[in-house]
Parts: sequence; structure tokens; C-alpha cells
Amino acid sequence: MPMATPRDLFVHELADTMSAEHITLKLLSELQKEARHPEAKQAFREHEQETKQQISNLEQVFELLGEEPEQTTCHAAEGLQREHEALHEEQPTPEVLEMGNLGGAAKTEHYEIASYTALVQMARDLGERDIVRLLKENLSQEKAMAKRVEALAKELGKQATAAVGSRQ
Ligand SMILES: [Fe+2]
Ligand SMILES: [Fe+2]
Repeated sequence: MPMATPRDLFVHELADTMSAEHITLKLLSELQKEARHPEAKQAFREHEQETKQQISNLEQVFELLGEEPEQTTCHAAEGLQREHEALHEEQPTPEVLEMGNLGGAAKTEHYEIASYTALVQMARDLGERDIVRLLKENLSQEKAMAKRVEALAKELGKQATAAVGSRQ
């Protein structure tokens, strides 16, 4: 059936975001295992829990719409996951891996922020108030996590650069 209405697009984008969350959940578990800095580890662990909540919020959204999520793969999230594999192929030192992982996490959060910002607007346009509320919950968690990993990247980046400088 052709996608003919904004509601069709909304349902499709929701399924895509659901897929992105499942892929991100796996990525977060890898990032958590790899993290050396306790604050980074904790941020990834907490966001893993939040991501599980986000998935259940999306399930509620589908229920409210009376729709089943179509089986689809978010190629963007898959790409971000692949970037993480590519970083490993470069055989980074632990400090550099930590920096790369925080940068990769920030990219993932910004992708999610863009996704939820669009979804919230679509839900508003469709007059779905309860759905707007659920999606805004997810959006605010993504925004908070983006700030958190960016602040950590800044702090650890300074330390790592200073450590390399003192070795030279
Ligand atoms: Fe998420
Ligand atoms: Fe996230």
C-alpha cells in the first residue's frame, strides 16, 4: 500500500525509531563495557536503562495509535554502530578509544534528538496529546545524555591531550 498520509509517515518513522532504539541499546551495552572513566560508565549504564524505558514508551505510542510496529531497520543507527566497529579496527589506545566512544555516543544522541523532535511535531500536528507527552519524555532524555557525553568528552579530551603533551 502506498504511503499516502502524514499519519502513515508518522507510523513509519515511529517504527524506524523503535529499530534505532534497539540498535542503540546494543551499542550502549558495548560502550558501557568499554568505558574506563567511572562517570562515562555510569552515564552509559543509566542511559541503557532510559533506553529500555524509551522503547516501552514507543510501544505505548503504538498501542494508542492501534498500530503494530512494522519490521524495519534504521540504517542510520546501524551506520553509527558500524562506525564504532570501524574505530576498533584502527586499534586505538584505551584513552583514544574512550574519546572516540564519547564522540560516537554524542552523534547517536543528536540523531535521536533530531528523530524525536520531528516525531513530537508530527504528533502535535495530528492532535495526539498523550503521544506528544510520551515522545517528549524520550526527547528530553536524549538531550540530557547528549549534554552529559559532550561535557565528559570535553573534560577527558583536555586530560588526554595534556597527557600526550607531557610525554612528548
Ligand atoms: Fe534513545
Ligand atoms: Fe539516547
